[in-house]
Amino acid sequence: MAKTATIIATLLLNVSFSVAQLNTLAQAAGKLYFGTATDNPELTDLPYVAQLENTADFHQLTPANSMKWDATEPTRGVFTFAGGDQIVAQAQANGQIMRGHNCVWHNQLPDWVEAGDFDNATLLSIIENHCGTLVGHYAGQMYLAESQKDAWDVINEPFNDDGTFAQDVFFNTTGTSYIPTALRAARAADPNAKLYINDFNIEGTGAKSTGMANLVKQLKAEGVPIDGIGIQSHLIVGEVPTTLQQNIQDFVDLGVEVAITELDIRMTLPYTPILAAQQTEDYRTVISACKAVAGCIGVTVWDWTDKFSWVPGTFAGQGAACPWDVNLDKKPAYEGIVEGWLS
Ligand code: G3I
Repeated sequence: MAKTATIIATLLLNVSFSVAQLNTLAQAAGKLYFGTATDNPELTDLPYVAQLENTADFHQLTPANSMKWDATEPTRGVFTFAGGDQIVAQAQANGQIMRGHNCVWHNQLPDWVEAGDFDNATLLSIIENHCGTLVGHYAGQMYLAESQKDAWDVINEPFNDDGTFAQDVFFNTTGTSYIPTALRAARAADPNAKLYINDFNIEGTGAKSTGMANLVKQLKAEGVPIDGIGIQSHLIVGEVPTTLQQNIQDFVDLGVEVAITELDIRMTLPYTPILAAQQTEDYRTVISACKAVAGCIGVTVWDWTDKFSWVPGTFAGQGAACPWDVNLDKKPAYEGIVEGWLS
């Protein structure tokens, strides 16, 4: 009798979270996927991998590090794809699709790119070769279904918060020419790929979002291939911009698709019931904004568990940003995502 009661109590506990799951609901809402970032070292953690392979929650993976420039072309002209290939194999084994991340970014850049002090023409040819080789290597491998094309963050974080261009080696050497060069190289290497520009602090309307919109308009006017805007969405609890849905719509109205590419919602620790409730509400708000705009094609969390979140390593005293905790247990934030898809 006592044993039966325990079993019933356990069952009730397990169904206190709805049986609906994140990708299942995303697809029921007409989206292509709900997904997560992951990273190669995490694939040795078997309980982590078991949930990563839960396709009811995740239909899409993004490699957090292993397709970046330092990982893929550490020496000029010498390409290494082992890390990226491992993530692709992990996804393919479970019928999950991928987003490529990324071709051109001023972070995690091998020293030789800046140290070479290359002139405009040489740096453009280096970018063309890097993006063409990287995107070409993965052409056709990332989205499995015919109707779902590969997607790449070709350009990552090109803007300052005031909407001006970041003064990195690419801009300082080539002006904005590196952007069409990279996009054209990606298009040539994988004509079916959806080509994105991806940035943070473009969740709400404002100077940075306007800068992104102006760039996309200009690229389209010049016939440069551009298919999507990635809204990273590294957010802070209680600070989801009220203009998020409008901003997604404004981007879609430019004639591109939008993806929420790196969602997490951090807080100053400790994690309290009040913060947990606000975080749940914030996840719900973000998901319902994507749900409401047809051109928002999917949502990716920047890893699903606090165990492997980038946040504590970057923002001292902050964390608990993911929908699962460090023990791989679901947090109330998971329910917020569920409610967002059902909204
Ligand atoms: O590869 C070295 C390793 O050799 C060394 O032993 C170790 C010691 O700390 O560091 C390793 O490099 C780390 C790398 O991740 C791979 O694990 C770097 O220190 C660390 O800074 C790096 O952090 C990544 C960060 O990008 C770098 O900017 C995070 O994992 C990754 O999640 C994060 O992702 C970015 C997106 O690409 C773009 N948008 C923002 C997002 C969060 O910062």
